[in-house]
Amino acid sequence: MTILVTGGAGFIGSHVVEALVRAGHGVRVLDSLRADVHGPDPDLAPITLPGVDLVVGDVTSPSAVAAAVDGCDAAVHLAAKVGLGVDFADTTDYVHTNTMGTAVLLAALADTGIRRLVLASSMVVYGDGDYLDDTGRLVRPAPRRMEDLEAGRFDPTGPAGEPLIPTLVDETSRLDPQNVYAATKLHQEHLSEAWARSTAGRAVALRFHNVYGPRMPMNTPYAGVASIFRSAVERREAPTVLEDGAQRRDLVHVRDVADAVVAGLDATTHAATGSLAAYNVGSGIVHTIGQLADAVSRAGGGPAPVVTGRYRIGDVRHITASSERIAAELGWRARIGFTEGMREFALAPLRQRSGSAQR
Ligand code: UD1
Repeated sequence: MTILVTGGAGFIGSHVVEALVRAGHGVRVLDSLRADVHGPDPDLAPITLPGVDLVVGDVTSPSAVAAAVDGCDAAVHLAAKVGLGVDFADTTDYVHTNTMGTAVLLAALADTGIRRLVLASSMVVYGDGDYLDDTGRLVRPAPRRMEDLEAGRFDPTGPAGEPLIPTLVDETSRLDPQNVYAATKLHQEHLSEAWARSTAGRAVALRFHNVYGPRMPMNTPYAGVASIFRSAVERREAPTVLEDGAQRRDLVHVRDVADAVVAGLDATTHAATGSLAAYNVGSGIVHTIGQLADAVSRAGGGPAPVVTGRYRIGDVRHITASSERIAAELGWRARIGFTEGMREFALAPLRQRSGSAQR
């Protein structure tokens, strides 16, 4: 089969392309090679493989997408603008790239009769997730207030200010996107479900946890925190930990994520038509951001992290979900452990941007 991979030259995309080739598929990559992401001289070596061809174009361009889908049997949609953004002015770019890009792709799939789709979604669609109060009751706290963050009260609390314990969310938990990026990810899921319903298509949405590994973009506010820490250590600067470092995340290795995409694609051969199935994709192990900073710093030879107490509006405090459904239904489990993954990550090449001062 030939699989279209939008964003296939990117961090996750390049690993997905490799995994699809290993699984015996042909691959068509559609990637805009945006200079603000790839720099002036994109590194295409990882996707220069037998059976892979590249269409350079933007996923929001109907003509580029029409050219890219031609002759494909299924699509993996990864092209997106990620992260929290620098400020609210980024909103139009998020909505244009993520929402319009998905709409253009889905229209092209509908036109050409392609009925199988894997969508890269995100854990951020759950917002702050579920918590238990001290009586063991499930509580969904309100979004954190700026005055609490200012005062260093980072953990969400119950209605009477009582402490709460974060629990694992599963795919049936309430969706509650709390920033623009999260809202566009949820919109992508809804659009994909509408596409599946009206074309009798089969869609799988993979809600990725925090992905890290080789070729992660460095030196940009849109990079994930693992890359930001790793880049700091490489400059021999202390990683700066926001809030108090107790934020909980599940760090999942990019090669495991690529295997999850292949499993998701296989699932679209036998899922019910007209449906979207969502799966959380994480390692199943929770770490704090402080532990991540320590691990990256140790593996890279220091310096030690600094906990700043600063915060970012729209950041979710804890993102912890169960990845049991994908294990039970698709047979996928993460295989690369945190210690092993971090050891490799400390030395692995990251992707540089234009004007980057990194080594
Ligand atoms: C990340 C991904 C998002 C993905 C989601 C899945 C990025 C930029 N974000 O979101 O695309 O959908 O995982 O769960 O890749 N922090 C620091 N110091 C810093 C920067 C951040 O301590 O210099 C903290 C933040 O306050 C936050 C945590 O690290 O608590 C994670 O931040 P980040 O990786 O940017 O974003 P996520 O919201 O986890």
